[in-house]
This record gives sequence, structure tokens and C-alpha cells, in this order.
Amino acid sequence: MEYIKIRGGKPLEGELNIQGAKNSALPILAATLVCDGKSEIHNCPNITDVDAAINILKQLGCTVENKSNVVSVCTDNANCKEIPDNLMREMRSSIVFLGAIISRCGSAVLSFPGGCELGPRPIDIHLSSLRKIGVKIEESGGKLLCFTENGLKGCEIDLPIPSVGATENILLASVKAKGKTIIRNAAREPEIVDLSNFLISAGAKIFGAGESTIVIEGVKNLKAPIHRVIPDRIVTATYMCCTAVTKGETLLKDIYPEHLNSIIPLFLETGCDINITNNNLHIKAPKILKPIKLTRTGFYPGFPTDAGPTIIAMTCFAKGTSVFVETIFENRYKYAGELTRMGANIRVEGRVAVVEGNTEISGAKVEAWDLRGGAALVVAGLGCSGETTISGLNHIYRGYDDIVGSIKSLSGDISLQSM
Ligand code: UD1
Repeated sequence: MEYIKIRGGKPLEGELNIQGAKNSALPILAATLVCDGKSEIHNCPNITDVDAAINILKQLGCTVENKSNVVSVCTDNANCKEIPDNLMREMRSSIVFLGAIISRCGSAVLSFPGGCELGPRPIDIHLSSLRKIGVKIEESGGKLLCFTENGLKGCEIDLPIPSVGATENILLASVKAKGKTIIRNAAREPEIVDLSNFLISAGAKIFGAGESTIVIEGVKNLKAPIHRVIPDRIVTATYMCCTAVTKGETLLKDIYPEHLNSIIPLFLETGCDINITNNNLHIKAPKILKPIKLTRTGFYPGFPTDAGPTIIAMTCFAKGTSVFVETIFENRYKYAGELTRMGANIRVEGRVAVVEGNTEISGAKVEAWDLRGGAALVVAGLGCSGETTISGLNHIYRGYDDIVGSIKSLSGDISLQSM
């Protein structure tokens, strides 16, 4: 079994290129299915969730090549409509393949998706939206049997909450549906815009991505495009936290500053100095971090729930009290127990976490229970004194492309060990 070993306290310094966004790459890989020919996706991160998506595409009959962060997907022989249970369980995003397979084949068979355990993660909004576009869905023996009787038809969908995955599924099912689809209360995340841009390059007619109302006019065919995935804003936030807790100074390259509008103010509040030129972000940490008074997670353009765990880990090193309110997921604080083992003082009550910072935090043996919670342990390990070992790396590998090598390149004392 592999684990990460960190000797904390060494300031991070140097430059790092930020990887492509996991949450863009996954729906875009699914979207290759609605295109004819061979799509090329550049800046695709080397992470296990991308591997899982590639396995699904292969299972469906696609020819996939993955070389140096460029994934090419040829759909010429993609005639299979079923995703087996073991592949569905590997990640939650497998559900966005539903809209894509239905669009391509007119029917699909899959089971319920897996993913990080952050509380109940139902797919009711995905299913009710797809039903409106004309998909009949029957549940039998843990499987979802999906088919259309008269093809997919454009319609108007008012989402009860701006679900990222449901918005993606609707986009994928509607791009080649007959007529016009209108999504109201759509998710506005940059990853929705990236998926839409991929589809638009393929010939789709999508208007308003990034706004609350998206209009899709169905087209007959889409031609596989070449596309570059946007940088990962959550990974950017993670390395900003790593820099801050080590009193370091780094240059994070190839970022989109406008995607960090709700993240940067928190770092300014802690006293970090931030300068952005072109698409590079320079961050210099203060000697003593200040606390973050109150942060609530929210749908984009609000503060992203996925950046919460690493930010909370950072505030364990700040002088004073920080308060966080998690509004998206019910059960996101599992990692707080692991941080407590390291000496952190975090009180969790329901969706609220109160961090009393600047306690004596020292290295410990801890375990990652989910992706971003795992990254929070890396942040804490880098900031504290002594040696930290982190197991449960399968969770971290889902979303971070060579986290050990990246931190090493910034002079961090980190290594991969095996038992
Ligand atoms: C996506 C991201 C994930 C991020 C989340 C919120 C990907 C691959 N994952 O997940 O990293 O944490 O957005 O920004 O892009 N909900 C329902 N019924 C549904 C769908 C969602 O009740 O049918 C609820 C969820 O339980 C959750 C909330 O809506 O409480 C938001 O979920 P959603 O935006 O759908 O997140 P995901 O697409 O799963």
C-alpha cells in the first residue's frame, strides 16, 4: 500500500503549471460520444477519474488514446449502450454518460453512480430532466433502463437547484434533440462553459452558458473537435493553501483569474499578497496568517464547496477563529477528524465548522476519506512540524495529477512510500 510522507515546515517556492480541470475533462470526455469522428482533448489531467471515464468510453466501443495529457476519442464503433456496475461505481460523473449515450444510441442501461461520500447525492434531478426531453426510465434490479419512443425533443426545464451534473446531462441529451431546449436555473460553473465550448466547436447551438438560462437549439450532427480543457480552479486553490501554510512564495501558471473571484479574497483576508499577470498567479504568504471570519460555500459564482477542505486546513494555522458554513453537501467534514489528530481545533456542528487556529499542530498518521479532504491533509502536513503520513491515496489520485511531484518541484519535503 502506498502512502505520502511529508516533513512539514519547509517554505514552498518556485513555479508550477496548473493541471487541467477534472470537472471539465470528465463531462467533455462523455461529450465525445455525441460527436462523429475523433475528438482531441488537450490539457487532460492524468488522474484516475479520467482513467475511469476512458474505461467507460472503451466499454462503449470507442477507440481511445491517452498520451502526454492529450486524449483522443474516436467514436466510429461506439455502438454499446450499457455501462457495467463496476465502472459506474468508480465515480459520480459516470452519470453524465447517460445523456450522451441516449443522444447517440436512443437507449442506455446503467446503474447508480459512485463517487465521494459527502452525504446523500441523489440523481433525481438528472432523471426528471431527461424524462422531460423524452427519455423513458425504468428501474429494475438496481439498473436504470432508459430509452426513447419517439426520439429526444426540446423542452423547457426549470431546475429546482442549479445542479452541475444535471445541467451537463441536459446539455448532452439536448444538443441533437429535435427543436429548442431551455434550461432555467442552470449551473453557471466555468466547467459548464467549457463543456458548452467543446460542443459549440463541434457545431452545437448553445446560447447563454455561464448564465442562469441556457438555450440549446438541436442540430442533426456534431463533428469531433479539438479542445483544450480549462485550468483547475480547485487545484489552484489547493496549491495556494500549500504556499500559505508554509510561509512560502510561488508562481502558479496557466490559471484563469476570473474563475478565482470568490477564492482570492479569502487569501487576501489571511494576509497573503497576490499578484496576477496574464494567466499567472504569484502568491506570497505573510509571517502569520490571519483567520477568515465567515465563509459560506455556494453555487458558482459563490465560494466552491470543493475548495472548502483545503481552506479549512489552512486556517488551522491562522491566528484566531475562522467560521465556515457548508451549504451544498450534508457531510463534508469527515477530514476534520483527521486534522484534529494532528492537533487542530475544529468544532463541527451540522453544516458549520469553527476553527480555532494557531494551535500546536504536529505530524501524525492520517487517512484520506475523500478527494478534497485528502488534499486538506497534504496542506496540514506541509504546514505543521514533524512527520505526517497520509494513506487512502486512491481518493487523492482521483483529482490531483502528480501531487507529490508537484510539491517536490516547489521544494517541499514530500515523498511517496510503500508499505
Ligand atoms: C459537481 C462536481 C463536484 C462539486 C459539485 C458542487 C463534477 C464532476 N463534480 O458535482 O466536484 O462538489 O458539483 O459544486 O463536476 N442534487 C440532488 N439531486 C440531483 C443532483 C444533485 O439533490 O439529481 C444535489 C446534490 O446532492 C448536492 C447539490 O444538489 O447537494 C449539488 O450537486 P451537483 O451540482 O449536482 O453536484 P455534482 O454535479 O454531483
